[in-house]
Amino acid sequence: MFDQADNLRQIVAEAAVQPDKTDSLRLIRRARIFSITSGKGGVGKTNIAVNLAYALQQFNKRVLIVDADLGLANVNILLGISSQWTLQHVIRQEKSIFEVIAESPDGLSILPAPSGIEEMTNLSAAQKLALKSQLDLLDQHYDFILIDTAAGISSNVMAFNQMAQEVIVILSPDPTSLADAYATIKVLATRYGVSGFHVIANHTHNALHGRELFQKLEKICQRFLKVPIRHLGTLSADPKLTQASRNQQIVVKQYPKAKISQEILRIAESVGGIPYDPWSNRSIYFFLSNVLNLGQE
Ligand SMILES: Nc1ncnc2c1ncn2[C@@H]1O[C@H](COP(=O)(O)OP(=O)(O)OP(=O)(O)O)[C@@H](O)[C@H]1O
Ligand SMILES: [Mg+2]
Repeated sequence: MFDQADNLRQIVAEAAVQPDKTDSLRLIRRARIFSITSGKGGVGKTNIAVNLAYALQQFNKRVLIVDADLGLANVNILLGISSQWTLQHVIRQEKSIFEVIAESPDGLSILPAPSGIEEMTNLSAAQKLALKSQLDLLDQHYDFILIDTAAGISSNVMAFNQMAQEVIVILSPDPTSLADAYATIKVLATRYGVSGFHVIANHTHNALHGRELFQKLEKICQRFLKVPIRHLGTLSADPKLTQASRNQQIVVKQYPKAKISQEILRIAESVGGIPYDPWSNRSIYFFLSNVLNLGQE
């Protein structure tokens, strides 16, 4: 699957040499941006983001996790790292983007996002330009950018989901999770122009249970929104994950043979197999131009 993704990217990269406004040639190389989101809190977003990032790295992919839930500093706590800098320091031109990215002992890269998108909307022209060129470097450096969002449908969460090329909604067996996942999909589809969604059923008894949960969500999305959703995979409720996360460990690394680790690796493979859409305008540029009013490239 990764071979296929690599080939696709190669083809796209070769086809994407376009003249820019200064008539020089620029090779567009873009990271794949996924958001990991949910309506309901505590369904496993952060654990899935971190483990998926680690799994993708096992396939030799360069992965960045964006911790978009800085209020609770989820990713940092889970990985036992603390970070002094955020994107705010990049905006103030005090740090470069790579100085702000924290490295975990397991080699994961984490970019702490600012706590409020609102803070970023009043930038000066110079700040916008500086931020844009720094984010451009991320696009070139990473294969995958995984955004771990906060729960809910606040404008901050939606802004990060809007930036992603692919939105992954996490579903759990809790009945409120279904209603909250539907609410997230509804808002993203009707107000933010997101047209397709991936779903991971987490905390399940088995694969059949996961499929049933997915099908319930699919049914209401088809009936009321006419929005397609895709089942990306199912993750079991596994005490090994609870144990690993309590010890600030990555379950895929700590217990690679555990059922949940195998399931996460399978999902990582599926993520690698999602075809790249060269026409997608969902990117860091999209985010900047729409959310931060930067204007087009
Ligand atoms: N598949 C699983 N098996 C066992 N425990 C799990 C599983 N998935 C998540 N958990 C546990 O559920 C809790 C919540 O997980 P996590 O913090 O990843 O959720 P979250 O969606 O990021 O929460 P928040 O909305 O607060 O950011 C953690 O204690 C984690 O260990
Ligand atoms: Mg979280």
